[in-house]
Amino acid sequence: MNRRNFLSASGLITGSALLGATTGVNAQILNQSKNVKKWRLAMVGTGARGTSMWGKDVLATYSDHVEFVGLCDINEGRVKLAKEIIKTDCPGYTDFEKMMHETKPDALIVTTVDSTHHDYIVRALELGVYPISEKPMSTDAAKIQQILDAEKQTGGNCRVTFNLRYAPLCIKIWQLLRENAIGKLTSVDLHWYLDTSHGAEYFRRWHRLVEKSGSLWVHKASHHFDLLNWWIDSDPEEVFALGGLEHYGKSGPFHATNCRTCNHIEQCKFYMDITKKEDLKRMYVDNEKYDGYLRDGCVFKDDVNIDDTMAATIKYANGVRVAYSLTTYSPYEGFRVSFNGTNGKIDTWVQSSNRTSDVDYDEIVICNNFGKRKYVQIPFGTSGHWGADRPLKDQVFLPNIPDPNQQCAGSRDGAFACLIGIAARQSIATGNVVKIADLTTLKPEVKKEYKRV
Ligand SMILES: NC(=O)c1ccc[n+]([C@@H]2O[C@H](COP(=O)([O-])OP(=O)(O)OC[C@H]3O[C@@H](n4cnc5c(N)ncnc54)[C@H](O)[C@@H]3O)[C@@H](O)[C@H]2O)c1
Repeated sequence: MNRRNFLSASGLITGSALLGATTGVNAQILNQSKNVKKWRLAMVGTGARGTSMWGKDVLATYSDHVEFVGLCDINEGRVKLAKEIIKTDCPGYTDFEKMMHETKPDALIVTTVDSTHHDYIVRALELGVYPISEKPMSTDAAKIQQILDAEKQTGGNCRVTFNLRYAPLCIKIWQLLRENAIGKLTSVDLHWYLDTSHGAEYFRRWHRLVEKSGSLWVHKASHHFDLLNWWIDSDPEEVFALGGLEHYGKSGPFHATNCRTCNHIEQCKFYMDITKKEDLKRMYVDNEKYDGYLRDGCVFKDDVNIDDTMAATIKYANGVRVAYSLTTYSPYEGFRVSFNGTNGKIDTWVQSSNRTSDVDYDEIVICNNFGKRKYVQIPFGTSGHWGADRPLKDQVFLPNIPDPNQQCAGSRDGAFACLIGIAARQSIATGNVVKIADLTTLKPEVKKEYKRV
């Protein structure tokens, strides 16, 4: 232990203040909170993420800075429940246009099914409302283009809430790379593992359909691709990918529509009785009558049309090469990442099982090519998603929160994070290397420039 450095969480916020300032469009996004005394917030998509992270928690923590003026969802039962969960008496709507015209919000939180984000982002921009979108910003290149065009036409900006940029471990890696800890960065190996609990959840829900989620290449991997883009500080240029459905969907041993109607519950390791999970029952089962959505879908259902096993090679405009993989049926949850530089290597291996033991930190190992190893320990963050969710919200809603680690993300970041996955889907379909520049008007740059295109 005595050869190890222990970092305080506050060091992560202040430590890199001199490394760089947020500029261009992202600085404009950051400055929006300076001019608003109390945010008049509307939300579209009042499901799990909307009501918790962006609803109940926001009102409980930032009530001096925000108020909800409207909630909207296509499912009227979920809108009603959302008011109860969030503890607001603002009006609920199933008609989005009506909500926007009656409530005149300053900002719109977009937490709907991924494939619909662009509709609400574009409409908010047209109405002069600030859209704050969950990741992925969108699921297809044409939809991303619509958002870019709408920003250009209206002069507005969309914020994309990439929470993992705010996780203490991820920040420390960003800082080490900026401090030139391993010389010139040449390649990165990133391998992400979803365990049989979290991983299976994607195959139970709407995420199992490419037309709703853009596949896990977009829905899930956009988190990872955004981290890569931010860490590497360059835009991705080319993608080659392979993928398949090896474990869930048609590859499974038996198939049903959902767990409640299944004849194989004794044999199935993925059986879930949703009626025993009070929160899920209230949010989804009790509201099936409005839209027929089954939250306990069979993970082996025939209609699963996304990959569960994915590998890609990504070339960045600054020459960095990335080897990436995502597996959705691992015995533990976490990731391994290795940054290879001309002078050494930065490694970390996160296994969420650590978090239930007496260890309360993540560890980064910095190896010098001809020198000693250094071990840096990062205390676990306390809020959701590895400590990321709270500092992200602080920056979104509180005035004058600085951005020394350049975490504030706009449509350009949102687009490139999705475009790698969209290119991967295209690469799998065609067997070819896909150039990111061929997908939208965004052209990859060696050093990211936050200006409009
Ligand atoms: N950043 C993160 O770590 C994180 C974590 C979870 C979810 N998310 C994102 O949050 C969003 C919501 O995910 P969730 O887990 O809450 O899903 P969910 O299924 O619980 O909620 C989605 C809601 O959107 C509603 N909806 C669907 N289509 C709509 C439409 N056209 N108009 C209005 N409402 C519509 C559904 O009825 C549902 O209530 C997704 O984009 C997801 O990617 C991000």
